[in-house]
Amino acid sequence: MTNKSTVSTQGTDDKAILVLGGTGKTGRPLVRTLREAGRRVRSASRRGETVFDWFERSTWGPALEGAGAVYLIAPDDPSPVADFVEQATGAGVRRFVVLSGRGIEELPPTLFLGMTAAERAVRASGVEWSILRPNNFNQNFDDDAIWRNQLRAGRLALPTAGVPDPFIDVQDIAEVAAALLTGDSDRQGEVYHLSGPRPVTFEEAVATMAREAGRPITFVELTPERYREELRSAGLPEEAVGEFDLLFEGLRSGHYAEPGDGVQRVLGREPIDFGTYARRAAAAGAWS
Ligand SMILES: NC(=O)c1ccc[n+]([C@@H]2O[C@H](COP(=O)([O-])OP(=O)(O)OC[C@H]3O[C@@H](n4cnc5c(N)ncnc54)[C@H](OP(=O)(O)O)[C@@H]3O)[C@@H](O)[C@H]2O)c1
Repeated sequence: MTNKSTVSTQGTDDKAILVLGGTGKTGRPLVRTLREAGRRVRSASRRGETVFDWFERSTWGPALEGAGAVYLIAPDDPSPVADFVEQATGAGVRRFVVLSGRGIEELPPTLFLGMTAAERAVRASGVEWSILRPNNFNQNFDDDAIWRNQLRAGRLALPTAGVPDPFIDVQDIAEVAAALLTGDSDRQGEVYHLSGPRPVTFEEAVATMAREAGRPITFVELTPERYREELRSAGLPEEAVGEFDLLFEGLRSGHYAEPGDGVQRVLGREPIDFGTYARRAAAAGAWS
């Protein structure tokens, strides 16, 4: 699955690449992709191979020692981000790839404080940087913390107003990040909009997953009011209800309904289609 030719074995140098969020949805395939290409990788998080906690500054120095490049997933709370970037450059980091999100410029700024701080900090860092702004991930559908359990129970209910999303596969994000972390300098200093190849409505996505999983799963279109009620009755705190509400308001606005071209620009190929994702995830037992 990995396109090794896009991961440079030279480019930066042979220093370690620090992958923050190395146990997460994008970090896991990124660590794997870089290691398959023979790169030296430090997979970091609170429970990772390398212990790194945004809110335990004593963990930053050991994680950064000898690192030449960083994959940066910011915490929601932006407060430590600028200090981390400054410490990283002081420790010898010469390149950052930041995971941000599409809609960051259009949606309410309160939603994306950490990612906004990370974009700003690397632009001001004086070293090389790339910013990835992906659409919603395919893998949200098989993440226990997001929609997997609802799909397994046979019903996903959301307030989308039928607006599609060109969902992106985390493998594509990982391959783009790997190429930018290791490749030549001429692709640095740019923002990449990463999406799948075509807009997909949630209704179509659910029908595709149901077909591939061989079980009935229904998509229910909710009004925003009804959605908030469902979140509250599922026990979500009011702050989280407000955030989900704004995220779907953003989706309904259509700001990121059209595909981006970042995967094609960096990897020179089409992104993974939603149908391919659904087939692979169903075969791996995601919704069994
Ligand atoms: N899901 C989407 O559709 C989507 C779309 C666009 C952008 N994004 C952005 O993607 C980011 C999440 O990336 P992801 O999906 O790859 O990760 P993820 O699956 O949400 O996992 C979070 C990662 O961060 C680590 N982590 C959590 N708290 C930490 C802390 N205090 N210090 C250090 N590490 C910590 C976790 O590991 P430990 O628990 O071991 O610490 C884990 O590796 C968010 O900024 C989100 O806004 C997501």
